[in-house]
Amino acid sequence: TISSAAKELSIDAYVIGGYVRDYLLKRGTPKDIDIVAIGSGIELAHKVASKLPGSSEVSVFKNFGTAMVKYKDIEIEFVGARKESYHRDSRKPVVENGSLDDDQKRRDFTINALAISLNPKDYGNLLDPFDGIGDLKRELIRTPLDPNITYSDDPLRMMRAIRFATQLNFTIHPDSLKAIADNKDRIKIISNERIVDELNKILASKKPSIGFSLLHKSGLLSYILPELLALEGIEEIEGQRHKDNFWHTLEVVDNIAENTENLWLRWAALLHDIGKAPTKKFDKKIGWTFHGHEFLGSKMVYKLFKRLRMPLNDKMKFVQKMVLMSSRPIVLSEDFVTDSAVRRLIFDAGENVEALMILCEADITTKNSKKQRKYRN
Ligand code: CTP
Repeated sequence: TISSAAKELSIDAYVIGGYVRDYLLKRGTPKDIDIVAIGSGIELAHKVASKLPGSSEVSVFKNFGTAMVKYKDIEIEFVGARKESYHRDSRKPVVENGSLDDDQKRRDFTINALAISLNPKDYGNLLDPFDGIGDLKRELIRTPLDPNITYSDDPLRMMRAIRFATQLNFTIHPDSLKAIADNKDRIKIISNERIVDELNKILASKKPSIGFSLLHKSGLLSYILPELLALEGIEEIEGQRHKDNFWHTLEVVDNIAENTENLWLRWAALLHDIGKAPTKKFDKKIGWTFHGHEFLGSKMVYKLFKRLRMPLNDKMKFVQKMVLMSSRPIVLSEDFVTDSAVRRLIFDAGENVEALMILCEADITTKNSKKQRKYRN
């Protein structure tokens, strides 16, 4: 339908971006399809809607020059091919009409710049000026242009690179990773909502530690989640060491990702030890302590959610509760497990007792002290 609508209007049209990438990777069912028109995307959208029975009305986003038609559960997004240039203080580009090639150049990654023709003369042809196919095979995230330009133009792409690397288990090209490290300060112009969207996608992945270690390696973590970075490192006093709670946390997050799809339980795993950096003390008699870290940690959850402009709702309260309680079953198992203490724990956990057990299980299955392994019994 799109092809014949485009033909009637004498406009060339191409499928581009995520749909082509995921089709070539045989990755799930698409939620949206991006169409680029060499001409008016809005006009093409109207034509398609008029020819496609059961499609929705056209939603036009005039400011962006785009239009969307819904068909079944799929959103078909139309845009005219464009050339973009950017101002330094904004991720909103100055837009001019352009060719397909201009449009592919303005895209974030080579694997997202692949286009398939819908035109009679070369229907089904893959247009791949930056060897996106090669990068799909090499499992590589690489930018079509100099990465310093791509990331500086739209710093959200630094987060997207790390998110795609995590979701697809791809490597970020070394030049690209260096450019992210060099441009990390530019993340400041990105709204917290956008950053949280990407963090959620990283956390929802199969192995979230890939993303968090890349955030760490590139230096972005200090801008986004400094509380987590503060957990890094091991101190030694009088021959006693504590574990590195940052790398421990990443292990816990991967463990929990194997056992639950619940995004908020994954957030709880990520934040379960954040109270430990500010409460860390060395006591001559008992060694390293993090006394009260769970209380402070749950307060820090509130502050962190607020700073990132995440909703301060029941989900946040759930994360707080998990952080507050996550060390209790482990502590209980160490010395004084009594029936009444266990009953109290179950009572306090309420309907979240199962979630709490999943979190604690993930915590103790990481390489940990003997004490923690004892808890499992
Ligand atoms: N894009 C871009 N720069 C951005 C966002 C998007 O160049 N900051 C381009 C990419 O070509 C991308 C397309 O717009 O493929 C569509 O973006 P989006 O829907 O956000 O991502 P998808 O690639 O479709 O992937 P996903 O649906 O997994 O987010």
